[in-house]
Amino acid sequence: MRKIGVLTGGGDAPGLNAVIRAVTKTAINVYGCEVIGVRDGYDGFITPGGIVPLGLSDVRGILPRGGTILGTANRGNPFARKVIRDGKEVIEDVSDEIVAAIQDQELDALIVIGGDGTLHIADELFDKGVPAIGVPKTIDNDIGGTEITFGFDTALMIATEALDRLHTTAESHHRVMVLELMGRDAGFIALHSGVAGGADVILIPEIPFKYEAVASKIRQRVERGTYFSIVCVSEGAKPQGGQPVFSRKGDAVYVPRLGGIGQVVGEYIERQGFETRVTVLGHVQRGGTPTAFDRWLATRYGAAAVRLAAEGGFGRMVSLQNAQVVDVSMREALAVPKRVDVNGDAVLTARGLGISFGDETLTPIPSPAGRKAQG
Ligand code: F6P
Repeated sequence: MRKIGVLTGGGDAPGLNAVIRAVTKTAINVYGCEVIGVRDGYDGFITPGGIVPLGLSDVRGILPRGGTILGTANRGNPFARKVIRDGKEVIEDVSDEIVAAIQDQELDALIVIGGDGTLHIADELFDKGVPAIGVPKTIDNDIGGTEITFGFDTALMIATEALDRLHTTAESHHRVMVLELMGRDAGFIALHSGVAGGADVILIPEIPFKYEAVASKIRQRVERGTYFSIVCVSEGAKPQGGQPVFSRKGDAVYVPRLGGIGQVVGEYIERQGFETRVTVLGHVQRGGTPTAFDRWLATRYGAAAVRLAAEGGFGRMVSLQNAQVVDVSMREALAVPKRVDVNGDAVLTARGLGISFGDETLTPIPSPAGRKAQG
């Protein structure tokens, strides 16, 4: 192995720099290999100044840093790229241009750090002869073939801290606090942080909810003498028979942008007579320093990806299974996106704790006075 490339694509996630560092250090220290970084996802291959050499000094000090030193893009799909032709904006497949640029670089491997979109592209480029290797990244934790993606743990910590902070102000003001969290079509961030942060209601895409059921949980708490509630809503949550809420439509370049369900749920709760405030945590979940776990996982993924490259394991992705870093076929891993198991132990645990998923309307429990009156 003489030369490898590394790029980061899609939305950023805490831990990207830890992977870049591990790739660079392992490639140089163990294989004496040249490393190049590709800026802004696949775009770097076809934009001036898009390729940068990576040496040991370039990755010094980046382990705790959020974001990615290489930059990223979530509109950089070479199979559908916005380009200007004859003064007009058109969508074109520029994948052959990218493949040619990769060949010009004479790379023995291209390590692609990305979520499902970026890794799907890596897999398609692999079909066109690119020696691609995947590293699964996303705060959403929604990639198949791996138990966990790096970035998720940090997002979880941030979301849980937000819930802790909302708790104290909710309790002081006897209010309902709604927190909208990221996750796209997977409810892992809302479910895990909701349990860790003691939410009373958790709404996730995998369990469509009923508005009345959400209100009944809050009412039940009030009837029991607790005048505040915490409602944790995943951005992809939807009511039974309804659709998710989008803040922006999709097009040939951008996927539709989820957002707004927290406000809709909050307004409904307020109409039921409970004073409510809504917080949208947004990109705070993706920024800043990675947790120790994410640094540890990202470093192991980066080092394993280089070892996989040396073995010629192209078209494969590193993954965590039974606490071991292994590798799996990228195509098989991406075939089935990971979702919350609605019958799994996490959901059962939450239900056992009395957390509502908004799918069961609770009958009010009579207050002690009411029970006396009933005899
Ligand atoms: O996939 C990561 C993620 O943060 C999702 O949770 C969220 O829906 C999306 O990216 C937001 O994307 P953008 O950065 O384009 O707003």
